[in-house]
Amino acid sequence: MGACPTIETERLLMRPFSDDDLDDYFAMMDSPEVRRWLHTPREFDRDAAWAQMAGLAGHWALRGTGLWALEERATGRFVGRAGLFNPVRVDWPGVEVGWTLDPTFWGNGFATEAGAAARDHAFSELREDRLYSCILTDNHRSQAVALRLGFTLHEERVMAWFPGAPHGIWVGERPEDGNG
Ligand SMILES: CC(C)(COP(=O)(O)OP(=O)(O)OC[C@H]1O[C@@H](n2cnc3c(N)ncnc32)[C@H](O)[C@@H]1OP(=O)(O)O)[C@@H](O)C(=O)NCCC(=O)NCCS
Repeated sequence: MGACPTIETERLLMRPFSDDDLDDYFAMMDSPEVRRWLHTPREFDRDAAWAQMAGLAGHWALRGTGLWALEERATGRFVGRAGLFNPVRVDWPGVEVGWTLDPTFWGNGFATEAGAAARDHAFSELREDRLYSCILTDNHRSQAVALRLGFTLHEERVMAWFPGAPHGIWVGERPEDGNG
């Protein structure tokens, strides 16, 4: 299975997670805005953030896809996470393009920039035919990213891992030319 590649976009370095990301990663995950939209359990703490980071690193080893840590090239600051999430869950649709940014960096186009690079990598390098994004129906900022990537809403359904509300399942198809 593939290791996490490093990708440069116009403003971002998309790279594997490192142990040194823990404080920044937990600060992002612990922010009220991210907690709200990811419906993070109250008990999610720094230890849980490390375990999640380790899981994200292991996802690449086991599945050949995964999330990148996003770093702003100009400053080296940790911006967030984005990439190709495909966990073993009973009703998970397939390879999901996902994104979460530290709220400091919202409103700059970074999620769209990273999402586009992840999408293109999945279509061109991994030869995926279809990509997904699972987005709660009230998460309009995330829906806007999916729309900017050219994804369309395929269906809305309650997913087993989050029974509290329906997710929209957004779909992007690989273009005929094989590019994203
Ligand atoms: C979802 C999330 C990643 C979206 O972040 P975002 O900053 O709104 O999205 P983008 O990075 O694509 O930025 C788009 C905005 O930057 C603006 N922008 C500014 N400079 C830009 C540039 N150079 N290029 C592109 N867009 C730019 C766009 O106009 C747009 O503004 P708008 O929100 O006023 O329309 C963020 O809200 C988040 O982390 N939410 C919590 C976690 C979450 O919900 N994750 C998804 C679960 S499904």
